[in-house]
Amino acid sequence: MLGLAMLKRLACSLVGFKVRYNGQDHAGACFKWLFIVIGFAFCVGICSNVGAASDNGKSIPQCVKCHTKVTPGIVADWKASAHAENGVVCSDCHGSEHTSKKTVNLVKFPDENACGECHTQQLEQFLRGKHSKGWLALNALPVTDLEPDELIEGARGCGGCHNMGIKPPKERERLRKMGYHYSVNSCDECHTRHLFSVKEARDPHVCQQCHMGFDHPQWEMWSSSKHGERWFAKQRGELPESAQAPTCQFCHLPDGTHENHTAWGFLGVRLPMPNDKQWAQDRVTILKALGVLDPFTGKPTGRLEAVKQLDLARLTEEAWQRERKNMLGRCQHCHSASFAKKQLEMGDAMIQKADRLMAEAINTVAELYSDGIIKKPKAYTFAYPDFLYFMRTGGGDLSKASHIDQVLLTMFLKHRMRTYQAFFHMSPDYAYWYGWAMMSKDLAKIKEMAEVLRSTRKPADRDGTDK
Ligand code: HEC
Ligand code: HEC
Ligand code: HEC
Ligand code: HEC
Ligand code: HEC
Ligand code: HEC
Ligand code: HEC
Ligand code: HEC
Repeated sequence: MLGLAMLKRLACSLVGFKVRYNGQDHAGACFKWLFIVIGFAFCVGICSNVGAASDNGKSIPQCVKCHTKVTPGIVADWKASAHAENGVVCSDCHGSEHTSKKTVNLVKFPDENACGECHTQQLEQFLRGKHSKGWLALNALPVTDLEPDELIEGARGCGGCHNMGIKPPKERERLRKMGYHYSVNSCDECHTRHLFSVKEARDPHVCQQCHMGFDHPQWEMWSSSKHGERWFAKQRGELPESAQAPTCQFCHLPDGTHENHTAWGFLGVRLPMPNDKQWAQDRVTILKALGVLDPFTGKPTGRLEAVKQLDLARLTEEAWQRERKNMLGRCQHCHSASFAKKQLEMGDAMIQKADRLMAEAINTVAELYSDGIIKKPKAYTFAYPDFLYFMRTGGGDLSKASHIDQVLLTMFLKHRMRTYQAFFHMSPDYAYWYGWAMMSKDLAKIKEMAEVLRSTRKPADRDGTDK
């Protein structure tokens, strides 16, 4: 079926003939009459489904006709799309088994592979990039199972953003059984259905829904930076079309690639360990709170495997340098190499400085665990803070959540991330007031809370286990 569509696309483009289903524009204007006749004959032969319902069951007009009543908005979008213009029809993506109200359950929901049948290159790039891992990364965290299904599988909350990512067939089956059969496709996250417009995908606003807010406000940072300010000035027509203003896409999806990666990634940890001894020690402390290293032996835990598989951090110097070099190449489109290099190195230095505060805070809370002031939640592997439970610091039981751990998590996820993300996105305010300054505040709060807890709580048994 997809093969036929491809053939059709090839045949139609060979004769410069564009089929439209909105009743107008049945031929490219500048072709000789003879050519049009031959082209038409050829296309009718191959695209036999243009007219009435065809015998191979691929009844395009039926879908459109009925859906003009059932879902008029979808048909309107599709009609205005490059797909309609190029003869890609409803059944190319949804199959042709459902043809009536009674057979709705037979309809197919196209996944990324379905798009890849015709857009091989984009799919391959996407698979190599970080976006393809979004769903699996979400499901690797222990907190995910504890939160309401509506916020995960229901594609709002965590699942509304981590929709971005390949769902393996088993996973899709599970979702279907649960009644969540939508959102099987990530390709419509930047060029939304049913227009699938390339223009929309080039607009930085498409990144906003997900790259905003609590722990990754890249939208807020970029849009209020000089880079963003200029882009908006251009949109308002105040600057000429030729004005240079880097968008998210310019820096992160250069030249139309669908492969995205950064050097530091989200977590701001990497291998090999830094030469600076204090920094190396601080990073180890953070890795313990992420549960990747055993807090007592310092040895890797099972979670390290997930970090590797999900590409959560660059694990070799080469992998890190490759991303850094690519990024510098983007800056040099507009800035001098030495200026750009210095800017990014200062960002690295801010990670180092943020890690110092972070490690001190983690150690303060960890001592409360080891002294039995905070009991180890049953679900935790160790009597030690565990960031992967997010705000569910009781290990699921909200009545037992530890508030000082929540403050610690906020310091890590919200304020540490902002400190360096803002540096990389040229946002003075986020870097200082919403980032670094808030980390200083968190640390003071954690120290004071720890003192209060020590003076008011009886220590539990020595190993701190909640029995
Ligand atoms: C005779 C009318 C009719 C025809 C013909 C028809 N559909 Fe539908 N379709 C419906 C109705 C009714 C629904 C259910 C809408 C609802 O859930 O509100 C539906 C639902 C759908 C859905 C959504 C299913 C879901 O679970 O949300 C898709 C996708 C779809 N149709 C695609 C197609 C395609 C592709 C064709 C042609 C091969 C087609 N339809 C032909 C009536 C029709
Ligand atoms: C049967 C083949 C086919 C399938 C399946 C298909 N496309 Fe396309 N697509 C085309 C053709 C043909 C064009 C127009 C020519 C071109 O840009 O290559 C196109 C164009 C596009 C464009 C560019 C639109 C523009 O504004 O210029 C995007 C984006 C796109 N498709 C996304 C998708 C996505 C996402 C899917 C899956 C949900 C998909 N396509 C499935 C054939 C297909
Ligand atoms: C508003 C959209 C959004 C919501 C809601 C959201 N995330 Fe994310 N998440 C993202 C984005 C975007 C990134 C990548 C951020 C970056 O690299 O700066 C990310 C990164 C992650 C990562 C790290 C992936 C990596 O490669 O480093 C994990 C794990 C994660 N999120 C889990 C969750 C969980 C669990 C929830 C709900 C409790 C959640 N997310 C809610 C958008 C979201
Ligand atoms: C290029 C591929 C493509 C084409 C062509 C296409 N669709 Fe879709 N359609 C999708 C994708 C992708 C989804 C979302 C699947 C998911 O939830 O992940 C979708 C979802 C839907 C839905 C259910 C979701 C909703 O918003 O209600 C309906 C109904 C639907 N399509 C109808 C149609 C009809 C009718 C046509 C033809 C006029 C059509 N589609 C053409 C790719 C396509
Ligand atoms: C993170 C956002 C994002 C996602 C997700 C995404 N795209 Fe794109 N896509 C873009 C951008 C940006 C462009 C425009 C590139 C350019 O400037 O030429 C684009 C362009 C395209 C084009 C048009 C290419 C051309 O040269 O005209 C196609 C086709 C396409 N994407 C298909 C896909 C498919 C298939 C998927 C899923 C595997 C996908 N996209 C997922 C952002 C995205
Ligand atoms: C001028 C180039 C540039 C622009 C524009 C830009 N970024 Fe970035 N981005 C960077 C740099 C530099 C890094 C850090 C790279 C590293 O790890 O060394 C980064 C990192 C990221 C990360 C990883 C986590 C982090 O923040 O450090 C995400 C996600 C991201 N950017 C998304 C976006 C989004 C979304 C936009 C648009 C709202 C955007 N970026 C605009 C340069 C840019
Ligand atoms: C539907 C939500 C969504 C949209 C829209 C989206 N992203 Fe993302 N993005 C994510 C998630 C989720 C992750 C983390 C993926 C993972 O867990 O591996 C991510 C990761 C990234 C990263 C990788 C950071 C790292 O770890 O190295 C970059 C860069 C990025 N996105 C850029 C963009 C840009 C640019 C756009 C807009 C063109 C965009 N994203 C649109 C959800 C989204
Ligand atoms: C497409 C062009 C373009 C790209 C690419 C670009 N910038 Fe810029 N950048 C600008 C413009 C224009 C300004 C505003 C200059 C001004 O304030 O006069 C700016 C301003 C800055 C500033 C604020 C300081 C100042 O001079 O006002 C920093 C820092 C910066 N850029 C760093 C970077 C880094 C780092 C990269 C690569 C990750 C990058 N830029 C990529 C165009 C670009």
